[in-house]
Parts: sequence; structure tokens; C-alpha cells
Amino acid sequence: MGKTAVITGITGQDGSYLAELLLDKGYRVVGVTRRTSTQVNERINHLEGKLELVSADLLDQSSLTTVIRDTRPDEVYNLAAQSFVPASWAQPVLTGEFTALGVTRVLEAIRSVDPGIRMYQASSSEMFGLVREVPQRESTPFHPRSPYGVAKVYGHWITVNYRESYDLFAVSGILFNHESERRGLEFVTRKITDGVARIKLGLAAELRLGNLDAQRDWGFAGDYVRAMWLMLQQPAPQDYVIATGRTHAVRDFVRLAFECVDLRWEPYVVVDPRFVRPAEVDLLIGDPAKAKAQLGWEPETTFEQLVERMVRADLERLSRTVTV
Ligand code: NAP
Ligand code: GDD
Repeated sequence: MGKTAVITGITGQDGSYLAELLLDKGYRVVGVTRRTSTQVNERINHLEGKLELVSADLLDQSSLTTVIRDTRPDEVYNLAAQSFVPASWAQPVLTGEFTALGVTRVLEAIRSVDPGIRMYQASSSEMFGLVREVPQRESTPFHPRSPYGVAKVYGHWITVNYRESYDLFAVSGILFNHESERRGLEFVTRKITDGVARIKLGLAAELRLGNLDAQRDWGFAGDYVRAMWLMLQQPAPQDYVIATGRTHAVRDFVRLAFECVDLRWEPYVVVDPRFVRPAEVDLLIGDPAKAKAQLGWEPETTFEQLVERMVRADLERLSRTVTV
């Protein structure tokens, strides 16, 4: 009998890639969705019939406990969150409810039903914020710079606390930015590749962005969900940094993306103060040495391949909408 996994955040970028990985491994996969008046499951529609979907919300303890009690999973991957950093200034309390207290609710559901269930918490490099060390590793102190980052620090420490208090197999993956053609259009990489494709196809004349100097350690989401699974297969629960160990400025991503369609970026990109944040995370670069040594994990997709695949995917998608 294969294992059962529950994934919160199944409709998100990472949820879709993780579901594919676990289904390939023979898992029964149960995805948690929240009730909405319209169902937009575009990232997981291709998995229809293979996935079980159940309804619960990070705000609602009893719905989470019911899911865990009814499905009795071996593993829970808590990927659900309010994950867009600018929205966390607009909705700081709600971000705390989802992204911070939501983690406690998932842990409580596990503890009350079966403390033997293994749990993965989606922690973030945003916790390093105003970085105290370069590169950032598991021992680097946190200094979050947004309500989202603060909420993730809470989620991280409550996971560690339940591990230490109740002996749960609960781990925190400190993942640096990871992207794909399934990334939400509001995040900078996808905003750029979508914008480049629109400009190339004559659907847009410019691309408006904020801080071009911010540096991020960008990897491919498909590589990163492998690390989540590996963390739950270890003999003991531990936290890991997952990153490529390379960093690039937003400007580098922009330049490469325009080069993919044989255009120079300078005539099209407009810096717009509306997209500049109240407090910025200037530089993220992770040290994935522990993950490499203990999990045998390494990223397979380079930065250049990532940019290329995202631009190609957006060009293909948008080409289908252009009438000839
Ligand atoms: P995403 O695409 O924004 O997906 C977020 C998911 O959370 C969606 O399925 C969303 O459901 C769900 N969700 C939001 N609020 C919820 C609630 N109250 N109850 C139940 N579900 C709720 O995020 P992602 O990029 O896949 O990231 C996955 C996780 O990793 C997040 O926790 C994120 O903060 C964290 N993380 C991401 C990165 C990255 O670079 N991608 C890096 C580090 C950490 P709806 O579809 O209904 O909105
Ligand atoms: N979104 C966005 N839009 N970001 C812009 C823009 C713009 O127009 N212009 C410049 N940026 C800069 C931001 O200021 C930031 O420094 C950088 O691009 C990356 O922004 P996002 O792609 O929105 O990602 P993020 O780094 O804030 O957060 C993502 O990665 C975290 C891991 O470090 C999210 O996926 C978080 O959920 C995740 O935890």
C-alpha cells in the first residue's frame, strides 16, 4: 500500500509540482482547497481523476482537523499561505492569520489526530530579510522586512517548537525564490516573462517594474519540490536551506528575458515607484551545502534555462490568443 500525503496549497505553483512528484512515486495525494464562488484550478486541472480534493481553510481549525482525521496521511505538506510580499503590507493581519497562525492550526490538527504524521512547513528566505550573513545558511539569524517575512518566522519557530515540545517529525524547508511557467503573474519573474512575450507579440508597449537592483537566488520550482519530499524521508527531522548558491539582480533577469526574443530591454522597461516596497530585501543568496551533503539534493535547472523556459512558455501561451 502506497503512502498518503495531504498538500495544503495544492492550487498554488508548488502544490501542483509536488502533486505530480508524489503521484509519480505512487502516493495517494489529497489536496486541500478553500471554498470560492468560482473554481480556478488551472495548475492542477491536468491531474483531475488522480488527485482527491477536500475543502478546508487555514483560518478554520476544525476543517483542518477533519481533513487529517478523515484521510489519515503519512505526510502533510503545508504549502498554503498568503505568499505575495506586497499584499502583506496591505493585509498584515490576514497575512498573520494565514501564514503564521495557520501553521499552528495544521500542527495542532496533526498533534491531536496522530503525532506520528510527518509534516513539512514551507519556510522562506524572506525570513533573512536584512541579511546578517552572506551567503545565508540554516544558522543565519533572521531579520524579516515585511509582515509576510515576520509571519514566516513565526511559522518556522512554531514548527521547531512542536518538534521540540511534542517530538513531532516536523521540518522547515527554508526555500529561496523558485519560479516556473506556473508562477503567479504578480511575482517579478513571471511579470517579466509575460511582459516580454506581450511586447514581442505586439500586445504591450512597455513593462513597468519597481526596484531593478534587488538580488535573488532564483531556482526552478520543479527542482525544489524534490527537496521537500527528501526532507520527510530522512531518519530525523531537520531544517534545510534550499537554494542554488547563485544570485542575480532583477535587471539581469530582465536583460536575459528580452535577449530570448532578440530585443534590448532599455526601450521598454519603465521604473514605476508604485512597485517599490516600503522596506526591501536587497540581497538573497543561499548556501545549499547541508542539503547537498545530507539529502543528496542539487538543483538541475540553471538560471539561464529557467529564464528561457518561462519566456518560451509565455510566448506559446499568448501566441494562441493572437489572431492572425
Ligand atoms: P502560491 O502559488 O501563492 O500558492 C499559495 C497557495 O495557498 C494557494 O493554493 C492558495 O489557494 C493557498 N491558500 C492561501 N490562503 C489559504 C487559506 N486561507 N486556506 C487554504 N489555502 C490557502 O505559493 P507558492 O509559490 O506555491 O508557494 C508555496 C508555499 O511556499 C507558500 O507558503 C509560500 O509562502 C512558500 N514559499 C514560496 C517560495 C517561492 O519562491 N515560490 C519561496 C519560499 C517559500 P488559492 O488558490 O485558493 O488562493
Ligand atoms: N513583484 C514584483 N513586481 N517585484 C518587483 C517588481 C515588480 O514590478 N519590480 C522589482 N521587483 C523586485 C521586488 O522588489 C523584490 O526585491 C524582487 O523583485 C522579487 O519580488 P517577488 O518576485 O515579488 O518575490 P519576493 O522575493 O518578494 O518573494 C517571493 O520569494 C520569497 C522567497 O524569498 C515569494 O514567492 C515569497 O512567497 C517567497 O517566500
